[in-house]
Amino acid sequence: MEIKRDNFKSSFGVLLAMAGSAVGLGNLWRFPYLVGTNGGAAFIIIYLFMVFVLCLPILFSEIIIGRKSQSNAFGAFKVLAPGSKWGIVGLIAVIGSVSIISFYSVVGGWTIDYLFRSVPFSLTSSDPEKLEGLFSGIVSSSWEPLIYLLIFLGLTALIVIVGVQKGIEKFSKVMMPFLFVTVLVIAIRSLTLPGASEGVSFLLKPDFSKVTADTLLNALGQAFFSLSIGCGTMLTYASYMKKSEKIVKTSSLTSVLDTSFALIAGLAIMPAVFAYGISPGEGPGLVFITLPHIFSQMPGGSIISILFFFVLFLAAVTSSISLLEVIVAYIIEEFKVSRKASVGISFGIIMILGILCSLSQGVLSDVKIFGYNFFDFFDSLSANILMPVGGLLVVVFVGWKMKKSDYINEITNGGTLSIKGWLVKFFYFIIRYIAPVVIITIMVAGLVR
Ligand code: TRP
Repeated sequence: MEIKRDNFKSSFGVLLAMAGSAVGLGNLWRFPYLVGTNGGAAFIIIYLFMVFVLCLPILFSEIIIGRKSQSNAFGAFKVLAPGSKWGIVGLIAVIGSVSIISFYSVVGGWTIDYLFRSVPFSLTSSDPEKLEGLFSGIVSSSWEPLIYLLIFLGLTALIVIVGVQKGIEKFSKVMMPFLFVTVLVIAIRSLTLPGASEGVSFLLKPDFSKVTADTLLNALGQAFFSLSIGCGTMLTYASYMKKSEKIVKTSSLTSVLDTSFALIAGLAIMPAVFAYGISPGEGPGLVFITLPHIFSQMPGGSIISILFFFVLFLAAVTSSISLLEVIVAYIIEEFKVSRKASVGISFGIIMILGILCSLSQGVLSDVKIFGYNFFDFFDSLSANILMPVGGLLVVVFVGWKMKKSDYINEITNGGTLSIKGWLVKFFYFIIRYIAPVVIITIMVAGLVR
């Protein structure tokens, strides 16, 4: 069966689909609590450096491989390096995407649960212990999270089944602008609370005494996760880009959008946290426990609560569709099946792993793989091994295996774009030397920790 490849229609559509992948739970849930537990502004500065100096060239590399090969994460390496073992990088990407989406969809399910609970204005309570009990009660129960997991994953599958242009591109194009405006509204509400300024200075005044090796590790891990690199996501999206799209421009804008969204999320959350005298270092419970507590005391809090969980849910969907597309494109093209069948197969596999992740918060909490429950296992496997190894191999491929002339050709669209020569060299230098060394160092540091 000859497979006709779908593609993105417009440059704006590509940008919003990529930004949709990047903007997700990583920005609204992980970034704020990492900022809170890693010393505020100091973490933000290190994070910015990681994104724009180190990860941006990695993003270029993924996009170069995808656009040049016009193939899925595994097929791309067969096209660009026929007869070699580089296909393994594609397999790492597919397995990485499966691991991430398995636990990501469970959290996606929680966001729907919280959204539904916010609607009748009954979520918020001024008693923090009650909210903590509510959260642990929800995630550790057996059936409730599974139903929401099913809804979340079902919705993701529906969008992906419709296709790249009519499903993914359209959905991202409608939802992303809405997301930006809504988070801005929440940030303005938060910034106008009495006592908000302390939260702002927490985000602006760096305290470098809190910076440790762990901070660097957290910042790099977060940059990878937030930009959706290292698992073939951007590679797969780029394979649907037209050859006339601009790689440097698209990746830079994607990083800028993703980072601004994270910063605005910080501005939406931290001022409110300080205004109500709560410690910023609350950790992962921040959005599910601390925020509902704050919403209960804030004027207009019930509405803000609905908006917030709606944004959280939509941001999670625009990311999960990108993870699913990596797996779906791989199955369609390597096993020659239809998109429908491919989505069906992927859905089945992810649902099984997702159920294990969800139940590992409750009845299956004692089942351990290498000392981790299912949820933490997939999280650590992807964050500590598959994503860094995948990212490393992608830059090594572009820096050392591909010809330099191919790299220049891709980045300048065959010489038709004028990009400053020193910039082209600077990025190449990072791809070839700096990125591999930094990723290896940080991985080793993480393993010996
Ligand atoms: N970037 C998304 C977020 O911040 C998550 C995500 C989507 C992702 N695709 C990915 C993370 C690929 C790593 C790799 O929530």
